[in-house]
Amino acid sequence: MTSGGDAPGMNAAVRAVVRTCLKFDIEVFGIKRGYAGMIEDVFFELNKRSVSNIIQRGGTILKSARSKDFMTEEGRKTAHENLKARGIDGLVVIGGDGTFTGALVFSKEYNFPIVGIPGTIDNDLFGTDFTIGYDTAINTAMRAIDNIKDTANAHNRVFFIEVMGRDAGFIAIRSGIATGAESVIIPERKTNLDEMVKVMVDHTTKKTSSIIVVAEGDESGGAYKIAEKVSERLEDFEIRVSILGHLQRGGSPTCMDRVLGSRLGYEAVLALKAGKAGIMIGEMSGQIVYTPFDQACKHQQELNPVLIDMVNILA
Ligand code: F6P
Repeated sequence: MTSGGDAPGMNAAVRAVVRTCLKFDIEVFGIKRGYAGMIEDVFFELNKRSVSNIIQRGGTILKSARSKDFMTEEGRKTAHENLKARGIDGLVVIGGDGTFTGALVFSKEYNFPIVGIPGTIDNDLFGTDFTIGYDTAINTAMRAIDNIKDTANAHNRVFFIEVMGRDAGFIAIRSGIATGAESVIIPERKTNLDEMVKVMVDHTTKKTSSIIVVAEGDESGGAYKIAEKVSERLEDFEIRVSILGHLQRGGSPTCMDRVLGSRLGYEAVLALKAGKAGIMIGEMSGQIVYTPFDQACKHQQELNPVLIDMVNILA
């Protein structure tokens, strides 16, 4: 099943899970809409052809949801009964920290074997260098920011561009560096408004426009709020705001995400077969790594501080 925010490359992972299972004569079922489908008993058998021609598609053929019912004991009990009634022996869940928090509780309550695959555009999980969907999202954000740069430059404007990342600045930092942003505002660093205003004033002497990339999860409250504060101080600047939003979550996955999804899907089946459970499969420095669910969610991957320092120097 896929659960939580969808991410490009999830379909590659689903395809790999299905085809690896079939290779080992393991029957495989898909569950629609994540934990919601587990509770509502929406299971369907998958075969080789069910996952044909999906590797290049964004979204998820299994659909996704954020289930409130699974947070209740009653909901999890029903889900467990459905799994047992269908003779399901193990689960592969593809999602982010919400998905793994649910998996952790469920596997402890019912001692059910679950292996997780990191699928979220936010890249905010510990135990993998990259999550499935992150590479596509940063490339999508980069192209969108490039477009905005053209018009910003034509009008000598300052743009505050908000990118996704509920609790983390991974999308912001990479899309910011890749587009030559003047500043990147992320939750991992406290925003110093004075410093930012100074950077903007300095840049307008040399340049005609500025791009400030803002992670939606920053403590400042997002691009509109921060733009408002800055425009109070820099009345002469023409300031505009653009929220990239869900366009970052869709689209055909990049080669990196297709390969990562395929590898992690394949490895998840091997891990379950080998009796591993309660873990997320990740890839670090090219090696497969198993991380217990509680660590994958609670110990957020740290954003490399060098990248943060670089932004100002290169701007
Ligand atoms: O978890 C991925 C993510 O895209 C976050 O970056 C964002 O804050 C959130 O999902 C949006 O969720 P929804 O689509 O449910 O509004």
